[in-house]
Amino acid sequence: MDERGAPRVARFKAYYTELEQGRTYAWCRCGLSRSQPYCDGRHRGTDFKPVRYRADTRGEEVLFCGCKHTKTPPFCDGSHNNLLSDYPEDDPGSEANRRVPEVTPAEDARSVLNGGGYVFSTDRARKARRGALRYCTVIGPEHGSIHQSQFHFETGSGDPTVIAFGERDVVLFMTEGDAEVTISGRTFAAQTRSGVYVAPGEAFSVAGRNGGATVRFLASACPRAAGPEWPDRMPDNFDATKPERVVPLDPAQRQGMASRYFQMLVDGSVGSKVVTQFIGHIPLSKAEPHRHLYEEALIILTGAGCMWTENLKARVGAGDVVFLPRKQLHSLEATSPEGMLVVGTIYPGDNPAINY
Ligand code: FES
Repeated sequence: MDERGAPRVARFKAYYTELEQGRTYAWCRCGLSRSQPYCDGRHRGTDFKPVRYRADTRGEEVLFCGCKHTKTPPFCDGSHNNLLSDYPEDDPGSEANRRVPEVTPAEDARSVLNGGGYVFSTDRARKARRGALRYCTVIGPEHGSIHQSQFHFETGSGDPTVIAFGERDVVLFMTEGDAEVTISGRTFAAQTRSGVYVAPGEAFSVAGRNGGATVRFLASACPRAAGPEWPDRMPDNFDATKPERVVPLDPAQRQGMASRYFQMLVDGSVGSKVVTQFIGHIPLSKAEPHRHLYEEALIILTGAGCMWTENLKARVGAGDVVFLPRKQLHSLEATSPEGMLVVGTIYPGDNPAINY
């Protein structure tokens, strides 16, 4: 406990733990325990009490809070990021990092990193045609994804093609061009860099608003899908219980994370039950290597940098997409002076600030 009566920070990140089913855990709330993250009785005489958690499901993986400032005890909620003036960083020029070899894109436009992670170049990728659309798979079961799939689309002139992904949550990100997005019969204006939600069972089409100018967008489907479906016509089963579908960029919605920020785009507040989308800014820096309990697709919107895993790295730039399996050690470095703007799609989990 510090002089203000606040809990002592045991460490500035979470403790990853695989729980034993049926066991109850006593999480240390005061920060004084010497067997973190668990209580050892040292809270006696303070106002703090341990928080108990019973593990009811088999193979449950959790992140117990290490900083003791979480608002969702006993689990990390990312508050640790804001206890430090700077986001934990790593030196790309260190002796160990200088020995890390760089991988380059293979025939299939992927630069393969450790643990099944990779960087995908949407510019280099061969694209299939469907009506006025050109498209390719960015992330899918064939590339090792467990939870989500992602597809890159480019519209052309002519009637918009109807696309569907069955009973899955679908989130779109408009990377280039202002669009008209029709979702099961209801049409929305979607500016560049906005997120769009398509509910399970619905279908959608995308057309350029400015005289059919090309629109580029990425569609993430969750659970994962082998590929898009092509209904003959637009159904009229729009889920009116979720009326708001387009989330534009809004600086007022930014959440700080030390020297970085992010804004939630499509999430539970729009109706997405499973997959969460956010946009964030990374300043000129290299993050300390870390992991997440979610599977992540990271679209590089602006700037240049490098994606590092255990002992491989690959360059990234605008238009590239990074795929990271759950628990994959990684570190994103921004090398451009203005930093990088990125869009993440994550599942399972709904908070990009949680890491360990
Ligand atoms: S470790 Fe405390 S909030 Fe993350």
